[in-house]
Amino acid sequence: MQIRLAVISNAGGSGKTTLSVHLAYELGLSRFNVALMDLDPQGSLTLFCGLTPPEPSHTLAAVLRDSFDGNWPLVSCWSAHTDKVVICQGGMVLTQTADELVLHKRGAYLLADRLADYPLEHDLIIFDCPATLGPLPLMALAASSHVVIPVQLEPKSIQGAARLLEWYYFHCKHLRLNPPPEIVGFVPNQYDSRRAAHRQLLESLPKQLESMNIRAFGAIRDSAEFVNASGVGLPLHLYRPIHSACKDFKELAVYLASILGKTEASKSNKGIQQKKSAKEHAQ
Ligand SMILES: Nc1ncnc2c1ncn2[C@@H]1O[C@H](COP(=O)(O)OP(=O)(O)OP(=O)(O)O)[C@@H](O)[C@H]1O
Ligand SMILES: [Mg+2]
Repeated sequence: MQIRLAVISNAGGSGKTTLSVHLAYELGLSRFNVALMDLDPQGSLTLFCGLTPPEPSHTLAAVLRDSFDGNWPLVSCWSAHTDKVVICQGGMVLTQTADELVLHKRGAYLLADRLADYPLEHDLIIFDCPATLGPLPLMALAASSHVVIPVQLEPKSIQGAARLLEWYYFHCKHLRLNPPPEIVGFVPNQYDSRRAAHRQLLESLPKQLESMNIRAFGAIRDSAEFVNASGVGLPLHLYRPIHSACKDFKELAVYLASILGKTEASKSNKGIQQKKSAKEHAQ
């Protein structure tokens, strides 16, 4: 089982890249192989992963060219700390890609096509999308098995998320996505418990989503350390390992791990069993 998770919202700065990075690291910690894909011309993942900007030929734009030969340009992230996370970088060249997608006969399906023709073995592939709901997020939607929606606890962001749901339902039907990607849930971000408006919106969100059968995950708290960590290209877990906000990604990470059907426990059990049978074999 592979999860292809599109991180989508139609609000800028809602925490898509932050969520992508921290989920990738967290799932990597649980020994899952993760590939991050940057669909954003801003290329923020490059910054958040502490990498240097790539040549256009080493970005997702090259993967989407008709001449692509299956050699995915994947680069290791935080390689001093983990061997589980790689990234296919984005960048400005994706603005040209977006224009070309509109004219391409397979436009919205190109990324899904690439993953079908040249599959990646990773357990989890995360598509970090740009904020505007143009051709790039549409292509992510068509390639995804799951969607997660980060929202800020501001009326504007919540209203934007409602429009995003309309966009989702419309395009799942229009693109004939069968089965349609599952909405894993909403993830409230930058939650400040001292703000009454935040507390109120956080409380009302699950009820609003319940009628649509959509889950609201626990909030990611507001902390300046997220900004600091992104500035040095690290997830918070590596920048401030004992910071309490590190725990805020756990609920979603555990949920994704449960979908993958390989919990930490079952993986380590498998490891023990493999060691056991190797020992038995040797005897
Ligand atoms: N929980 C948080 N607390 C404080 N700052 C945060 C938090 N989450 C994200 N940020 C900061 O807010 C800014 C926007 O976050 P991020 O880049 O993840 O959002 P985005 O949705 O990917 O933005 P864009 O739409 O530009 O791609 C960044 O500077 C990030 O470090
Ligand atoms: Mg971003």
